Amino acid sequence: MPADLAHDWWKSAVVYQIYPRSFADSDGDGVGDILGIRQRLDHLERLGVDVVWLSPVYRSPMADNGYDISDYCDVDPLFGTLADLDGLIGDLHERGMKLVMDLVVNHTSSAHAWFQESRSSRDNPRRDWYWWRPARPGHRGGEPGAEPTNWGSAFSEPAWTWDPDTEEYYLHLFDAGQPELNWENPDVREAVYSMMRWWLDRGVDGFRMDVINLISKVVTDQPPGLADGEVGGADGGPIDTMRYGDPGPYVLNGPRVHEYLQEMHREVFAGRPAGLLTVGETPATSIEQARLYTDPQRGEVDMVFQFEHVDLDSGPGGKWDVVPMTVRDLKETMGRWQTGLADVGWNSLYLGNHDQPRCVSRYGDDSPEHRAASAKALATVLHLHRGTPYVYQGDELGMTNAPFASLDDLRDIESLNAHRSMLARGLTHEEAMAAILTKARDHARTPMQWDAGEHAGFTTGTPWLAVNPNHQEVNAAAQVDDPESVFCHYRQLIALRHEEPAVVHGDFTMLLPEHEQVYAFVRRLDDTEVLVLANLSSREVVDPGDLGHGWDDAELVVGTAGRTDSQGRRILGAWESGVLRRRG
Ligand code: NOJ
Repeated sequence: MPADLAHDWWKSAVVYQIYPRSFADSDGDGVGDILGIRQRLDHLERLGVDVVWLSPVYRSPMADNGYDISDYCDVDPLFGTLADLDGLIGDLHERGMKLVMDLVVNHTSSAHAWFQESRSSRDNPRRDWYWWRPARPGHRGGEPGAEPTNWGSAFSEPAWTWDPDTEEYYLHLFDAGQPELNWENPDVREAVYSMMRWWLDRGVDGFRMDVINLISKVVTDQPPGLADGEVGGADGGPIDTMRYGDPGPYVLNGPRVHEYLQEMHREVFAGRPAGLLTVGETPATSIEQARLYTDPQRGEVDMVFQFEHVDLDSGPGGKWDVVPMTVRDLKETMGRWQTGLADVGWNSLYLGNHDQPRCVSRYGDDSPEHRAASAKALATVLHLHRGTPYVYQGDELGMTNAPFASLDDLRDIESLNAHRSMLARGLTHEEAMAAILTKARDHARTPMQWDAGEHAGFTTGTPWLAVNPNHQEVNAAAQVDDPESVFCHYRQLIALRHEEPAVVHGDFTMLLPEHEQVYAFVRRLDDTEVLVLANLSSREVVDPGDLGHGWDDAELVVGTAGRTDSQGRRILGAWESGVLRRRG
């Protein structure tokens, strides 16, 4: 065992993400809350996860469901009270689990006191805590085209909003209700660090850092100090680069981001006992960048969420330009990250979260015939990679995308704005809806399916977003005691990580990289070898190819690994998956 194992405890851990709005509602208002979570902790303990990552529960006007925070040190009444949160921390610790909070400090809400002060006058001491700029020379503020730069925001609007009172624009890379903090200002940084220390002192076990690779911007000598972005280029992300300039090169992984994270590490984490976890959300980040973020010697974060595999179905026009992806693409990407972070750094492993469609609908087959098997196959592959797996609530049940019928069924600001933007660009309503119904974040946000009853046991009231009608078949109550269920499969995979060091520390070798259906690899540590074999397709595979010798007598530890036909060939059924182990 490495001597510094205590600091690496998260290598053998599995994290479960709770999106509180949609997890469990204790008071019947149709929105999940902290007491609801506390009532459902048996589910998590049974699953065997080590850590809960809680999406934001702070005070917020909810322009972006809590990713717009107006008070970092209080809980929004929609979710409960600070005392409820203290109770949750205590409950989790009692059960041997940890709590990681969402840290959203690239931006605040426009309702945050800091921004209220900042916008109150041009000479307010907090003016410089945000990015304020005059209108473009020769233009009248507030008119289209007068924005200081041509940047688009991730929510399909210009990235600048005019403030008529102080006659300047402020920058927001998301909604106008999410102004960007100016990390160039050391007082901003100290205010953030002090808030983080406050939470750690309160007992939380770390942070998931929202779009943390956006905190440093490229500042130029020429007014306005920020440069126009390319229009019409390929962004790959959510920016509508047909209508706006792409801010990416000026805001992603900017010149001071590593300096800031190292400072944060020194100011917040250094000297605290081991047992904390930090994970940065880092869209559009390369392996080279990820190595810098996650090299323990540099003191930045423990791991990052990279985006390459969730961008595989985005075409040159970005997120809403949906293109097909293949099993080969997925293997190529995931395999490259395994190799890229093999000697330095660490991977976070995820196929879904509150920003992505459901993984079983996207990478699997959510038809009744294949849903469960494909959910298991995807989990098998993901959890056996080297890295820390993240389970998004409901994925352990094989929850699917929702059958949204129209825009009225959706709630997410990203989808609603994207629809308007696509129409403005000349797409038909049908074309816009086809993209939105494929990628909408609301697919992942439908309420957790606890049972087959009304509203899936999520609430006694009217849920804020409709429950998926398939909760009558797909729900926790039907699965937790069924050894063949998706839930029990997840439980086995999580237990395997806890007990088998080769899954945690073993090296990784991809097999059959060119195969169009099979995802196979070997993990190896000392004398233990683990073979992972999955047919990621709805068609049978006859003889997947050379898996190396000697696996016929290996121990089957999870799932099934095919059958042998009369000619001695291995046959893998549709979405069949399994894990084999041998020693010596
Ligand atoms: C990433 C979060 O995961 C997403 O939900 C949010 O909309 C943006 N960051 C802005 O905070």
